[in-house]
Amino acid sequence: MTILITGAAGFIGANFALDWLAGSDESVVNLDKLTYAGNLETLASLRGDARHIFVQGDIGDGELLASLLAKHQPRAVLNFAAESHVDRSIHGPEDFIQTNIVGTFRLLESVRAYWSGLPAEGKAAFRFLHVSTDEVYGSLSATDPAFTEQHRYEPNSPYSASKAASDHLVRAWHHTYGLPVLTTNCSNNYGPYHFPEKLIPLMIVNALAGKALPVYGDGMQVRDWLYVKDHCSAIREVLAHGRVGEVYNVGGWNEKPNIEIVNTVCALLDELRPKADGSSYRSQISYVKDRPGHDRRYAIDAGKLERELGWKPAETFDTGIRKTVQWYLANPEWVANVQSGAYRDWVQTQYVETAAT
Ligand code: NAD
Ligand code: TYD
Repeated sequence: MTILITGAAGFIGANFALDWLAGSDESVVNLDKLTYAGNLETLASLRGDARHIFVQGDIGDGELLASLLAKHQPRAVLNFAAESHVDRSIHGPEDFIQTNIVGTFRLLESVRAYWSGLPAEGKAAFRFLHVSTDEVYGSLSATDPAFTEQHRYEPNSPYSASKAASDHLVRAWHHTYGLPVLTTNCSNNYGPYHFPEKLIPLMIVNALAGKALPVYGDGMQVRDWLYVKDHCSAIREVLAHGRVGEVYNVGGWNEKPNIEIVNTVCALLDELRPKADGSSYRSQISYVKDRPGHDRRYAIDAGKLERELGWKPAETFDTGIRKTVQWYLANPEWVANVQSGAYRDWVQTQYVETAAT
């Protein structure tokens, strides 16, 4: 048996593929465009492993999809591929519309054509799992209850609007055509192989390089944080036992303001890699101009997933963030290799050309 995963050279998809093949002999076809965020280095341990079939390509390429589906006959397609960074979506939304909306549409059409031709048993067992985000629900006030699956969609950034659109397409392909879909909406992930444009890896990498730690606005925006391997275990659970057509929120029951995250990273680095001059990495914190339209608070109620499928995160924030900082300290080559020319251009656009407050 085989599953097809899109975007499995990215942060979450790669963690998923590594964990999947560590626990199962079911092979993985990995379709990834290798944008700036795709990195085959992350999958280096699978080199020469016949269970991992990598194909460079776009989820919007219907012809490629048709041939891959016909050749490998997957029992499931898991869609991780996306443009995923909010700040980039503000600077240039076009790629987000193309991949997250048009790409998901074309992927759904290719998968529908393949699924329609399966024999009855294969058709009934097939699943299309769409990996999405809590950001589609919009922003909460400090006292609002956490997002449930019933919360209305109120996306505020080009990124979250494009993911919201893709979720709606997935829903419609189930409702209209009967495609057996599952959707997960997860909070902020962190852990190994996280591209250092996102908050936690950026803070670790900048701290170690002696650079400023840029905190947007007042640093009091709240996110729920989940260790990436817990997200992967939730997806495996939903794929195996989720009810077709249902949406499952995934979260860590772990809301924290950004400044607390940054302080925790600094404290761990102070302990694990103290600075020669004895000062704290905290001294590198620098408050900068806020993100336009910055959502104030996200919080996830993952109760449905726990009640229906018995899933709970294995890591607390304390254990997960310690593992993450230790991983970055142990893997400086991985970090150096992702800091390519394209990454340096991004840092120039986002942090150097925009004036600090
Ligand atoms: P990422 O940016 O690290 O990786 C995305 C991957 O998709 C990359 O390997 C990239 O090359 C690939 N890709 C991009 N466009 C493609 C295309 N058109 N065709 C094929 N491949 C393409 O993202 P991530 O953080 O791993 O997120 C994976 C998924 O999880 C996304 O759908 C994202 O919206 C969702 N999600 C992320 C988080 C988070 O905190 N990172 C939280 C909840 C949900
Ligand atoms: P990010 O990791 O980009 O995830 P998202 O925007 O999808 O939640 O950002 C997490 C939070 O950290 C968000 O509130 C923005 C903030 N942030 C900073 O304060 N400084 C930074 O340099 C970055 C990248 C993010």
